[in-house]
Amino acid sequence: MFADRTNWDRTPNRLSEALAAHRAAGKPLLDLTVSNPTVCGFDYDGAAILQALNHPEALVYEPNSKGLESARRAVADYYAARGDKVSIDDLILTTSTSEAYCYVFRTLCNPDDEILIPSPSYPLFDFLAEIQDVKLMRYALLYDHGWQIDFHALELAITPRTRAVIVVHPNNPTGHFTKPAEMSKLNAICSARQMAIIADEVFLDFALDGMRVPSFAGNASALTFTLSGLSKIAGLPQMKAAWLAVSGAGDLKREALARLEVIADTYLSMNAPVQLAMPRFFEQRRSFQQQLLSRGRENIAELDRQLAGQKACSRLAVEGGWYAVLRVPAIHSDEELALELLAAHGVYIHPGHFYDFPSDGFLVISLITKASDFSAGVAKVLQVASGEAFSPGPKRGLSPP
Ligand SMILES: Cc1ncc(COP(=O)(O)O)c(C=O)c1O
Repeated sequence: MFADRTNWDRTPNRLSEALAAHRAAGKPLLDLTVSNPTVCGFDYDGAAILQALNHPEALVYEPNSKGLESARRAVADYYAARGDKVSIDDLILTTSTSEAYCYVFRTLCNPDDEILIPSPSYPLFDFLAEIQDVKLMRYALLYDHGWQIDFHALELAITPRTRAVIVVHPNNPTGHFTKPAEMSKLNAICSARQMAIIADEVFLDFALDGMRVPSFAGNASALTFTLSGLSKIAGLPQMKAAWLAVSGAGDLKREALARLEVIADTYLSMNAPVQLAMPRFFEQRRSFQQQLLSRGRENIAELDRQLAGQKACSRLAVEGGWYAVLRVPAIHSDEELALELLAAHGVYIHPGHFYDFPSDGFLVISLITKASDFSAGVAKVLQVASGEAFSPGPKRGLSPP
């Protein structure tokens, strides 16, 4: 009755099960995994956001496959304000970056063609690829006083079926940006092999040092698809407004845009009120980004303050984004540790293997957590991870996320 591609193992992993039980029992929870900015205590201008949706033009349906011009202009203005030049003709609006990934995968890949993704990276890629019948091949990111692309591994992972390389800039959860030298190397590899670059820039504006990092949106040396959206840039995931920008040498770019436009025209998935509101939504990003960055910096400072009081755990370097990675003694598996933290201390944190870390000994912590929860949660994590407060119960088995 059903397609093989949807034959997922949907049994919840042990941590999700334990979390559901914890919540059902009404026990208090210190959630160090939060990623939904609308419930993290940020101050939104609610009146302006709702007012932005109140547009008389929304009463008329004006289908436009790439998205309304006024909305695309708002995206182009966003890039211009950060020093990146993007034409409205090279933009296609989508309801999410996830949808943009689907459009790009459909444009580039036949069934079983391959896309390279970084490892570690965030878990949604597996589902996005499976739904589009695309195979993911992983290239390692190496950590040595900071993260970098393992280009040797990346080149070894390329096969005749490889269509594109995904870079997440900055990466989730490692928080490192792709450096200019790495961009050049990616360009050389991709243009020589007829491969595209897919750059996920949803966290681009969240450099913790406040520096403006160049976007891939102006990259012309290889065919490049740059994906982003208001869900992170303006902290408005509920508005479902995202985009993809296409850049690259003339003919390839034109062909890619023409094909993407047919896909976009088939769905016409953007709604009028949100498109018309996009210029006003972009205005909201300044206050949101300021608040988020100051929260992230305060939480990092608090984490470092607590780390300074012990020797067992450390923090990996982080340049931007909403997460930090903790290195913890691998006395127990990451999952054991996360289960113990939840069961015995009411702290919910993601184990590194959710993000495809190559070994145990890593936890991923959300920097957008409210300061008081963050501080209390980190104190517990350090206590338990160092072995101080780990109650050796019956061995809990490992299971994939
Ligand atoms: C790296 C990355 N890309 C894309 C997304 C999804 O963004 P959207 O809400 O636009 O689909 C996320 C969500 O956390 C993410 O971490």
